[in-house]
Amino acid sequence: MSEIKDKLDLKEIVLLGRTYDEYVKAFNLDGLTLKDERLLDAASGVSSFAFEAAMQGIDITAADRIYSLSARDIEAKCAKDLDIVMAQMPTVAHLYKWEYFRDVESLKAARSRAYRLFIEDFQRQGGSRYVTCEFPITGFSDNQFTITLISHFLFLYDDRLDYEFHRQTLTECLRISSKEIRIFPIVNLKGEQSPYIEKIFADEAFSDCTISIQPVGYEFINNGSRMCVISV
Ligand SMILES: C[S@@+](CC[C@H](N)C(=O)[O-])C[C@H]1O[C@@H](n2cnc3c(N)ncnc32)[C@H](O)[C@@H]1O
Repeated sequence: MSEIKDKLDLKEIVLLGRTYDEYVKAFNLDGLTLKDERLLDAASGVSSFAFEAAMQGIDITAADRIYSLSARDIEAKCAKDLDIVMAQMPTVAHLYKWEYFRDVESLKAARSRAYRLFIEDFQRQGGSRYVTCEFPITGFSDNQFTITLISHFLFLYDDRLDYEFHRQTLTECLRISSKEIRIFPIVNLKGEQSPYIEKIFADEAFSDCTISIQPVGYEFINNGSRMCVISV
């Protein structure tokens, strides 16, 4: 029988991507007129959100450090990371809610579809939609975007990205966003609310902003059905 673990055992942040439908539900995007916004997907990786959003006429930019790599190298790393995560799934299945994905196979199919759509678009678009950047620093101008989305990057990896990194990345995303930033999920890999949430509420760096925790229509990691919204 497989050993049961209390979190995914990952050496580094993995290259797995989510779909447009997952982003819409995870960030409550149904309530917005997205065609009126300039969106940034921060640490977008191999998500197909940018491609699928652009196909609907939405103004979207995706930023990630992996975009300096070739499509072939990204694809090879994705395939490896997908295998690593899927191999561990039986040992951590209890940490996830199996509704949006009914089982490991449907999860794997969705992640494969996302990265394949991404790779095709990345090969076609190159740097026009996909911008290489290493947070917490970006080359974007003040208020270049209206809303920045941060999915499965901050809070989730609080065991390897320290609070100072979170503070600097959020400060940078606020500089380049005229309205707000949305971060999902607010739990870490153990499925516990990240202690950095409380720190952000108490941090003077964000005292001029409105911070709220809002329920969303997507839950995969147990307890992971809330996002953090920081409004300028
Ligand atoms: C788990 S993936 C999430 C991808 C996408 N946001 C999603 O939810 O499908 C995390 C991403 O963070 C990116 N990343 C990690 N550290 C980064 C940094 N300092 N600057 C830019 N991207 C970074 C990784 O390359 C990876 O693509």
